Amino acid sequence: MTLEKKQMDVQNDPWRLKFHIMPETGWLNDPNGAIQFNGVYHIYYQYVPKDPLGGATHWGHMTSKDMVYFKQEPIFMSPDQEFDVNGVYSGSGIEKDGKIHFFYTGNVKQPGDFDYIYNGREQNVVHVVSQDGYEIERREVVIPHEEFPEGYSDHIRDPKLFKKNGMYYMVLGARTENNLGSILVYQSKDLEQWTYHGTLYDGNEEQGYMWECPDFFEIDGQSVLIFSPQGILPEEYKYNNPHVAGYILGETDWSLVKFKPTTEFREFDRGFDFYAPHTFEDDQGRRLMWSWMGIGDTMPEYTNPTIARGWQHALTLPRELVLENGQLYQRPLEEYKKLRKNEQTKSFREAGALSGEVYELLLEFETSAPFELKLRQDTELIYADGILTLKHGKSGYGRRKRMTPIKEIRQLQLFVDTSSLEIFVNDGEYVLTTRVYPDAGEDAIDLETKADGTITYWALD
Ligand code: FRU
Repeated sequence: MTLEKKQMDVQNDPWRLKFHIMPETGWLNDPNGAIQFNGVYHIYYQYVPKDPLGGATHWGHMTSKDMVYFKQEPIFMSPDQEFDVNGVYSGSGIEKDGKIHFFYTGNVKQPGDFDYIYNGREQNVVHVVSQDGYEIERREVVIPHEEFPEGYSDHIRDPKLFKKNGMYYMVLGARTENNLGSILVYQSKDLEQWTYHGTLYDGNEEQGYMWECPDFFEIDGQSVLIFSPQGILPEEYKYNNPHVAGYILGETDWSLVKFKPTTEFREFDRGFDFYAPHTFEDDQGRRLMWSWMGIGDTMPEYTNPTIARGWQHALTLPRELVLENGQLYQRPLEEYKKLRKNEQTKSFREAGALSGEVYELLLEFETSAPFELKLRQDTELIYADGILTLKHGKSGYGRRKRMTPIKEIRQLQLFVDTSSLEIFVNDGEYVLTTRVYPDAGEDAIDLETKADGTITYWALD
């Protein structure tokens, strides 16, 4: 296919998303550097402009004034320095004295016969100063790969910054020589000079071999540690994706800079396409989270047919994180109500008359009871015997079934885009995110249940 023809297909593609961040062409993965600065929200993301199968990543960039409508900005950084030739990998941003300071991993693969896990790879921590989030004032290595502590493989990356008691901290995800996950912490008074402060938290054999994209913040006096472990084995209903992403709640001993868990590791999402979440706090004090609506190392039958149309992957909708009942709830942002059009409210008994392609759906149950909800051609959401099952047919392109035990369901809120589905259960107690590729056009929304309740539909535009 000629490039011209491919570009045309990209623009006419009915699977291009209407209200999600996606690449113009090529590949997208992790969200990076999210920040609200001078009233503008900036989101950067792992991006390979031309190749939908990936490659050396850049930082793509979008901005927004309202978190709903995003403007495409020029690429913020490309892998054009000797310390990042094989990828401007993931990282984060923090404001200091009226400037944004970004930190990312410069990925370098030395040419030769290496395994690139224990040898042949450099992952440098790079510091980038920007006055506005658009231009770069300086970009330099602050922690070169060779200064990392002993006992680790070459995989140490994804700096995330935070400030506590006047000190700056940087957490990094790592794989030890013995293939365990670990989170390193560095500290600095000025963001320029960094000293190693041991590990914030270490994994055991049951928690995977590598922890990517760590994130840390405090909410209502509790510490939250987020990471994306690779290699956790599936356990009945849990950890069914090749890699998972989740969090642990706990307390931090700041004299030692050690995190002490008070809960188990809990997965954020129970669907098929969710990895590498990244949070920031906005000026309303909200903790907002974006995530890659995709995943790596999937089985061959799981595919994204948009590859043939020149692009792959997207970000999830941003979600607000709230601590309630001893867990994090994930809620769609209030701002997205702006997109609502043509409201239709019906009782469950008359729900059969609804249909749509790009829409939001709210189901409010008077009692928790079994139900079957059919949407998007061949996708079904079934609740029976205390298990919520998400099932796709052909349009799932290899995504078949995910099951989640949930005691009762009183509320469901669904965001349906041309080729994605985000299902919030019980006001964000559980979330299921998945890509799905039905034929273009409206499909019937069919609800069967003995429960009473109301269903509200809005077209999203
Ligand atoms: C997670 C990840 C990060 C890395 C980036 C490279 O998806 O593997 O650890 O920085 O993607 O694109």
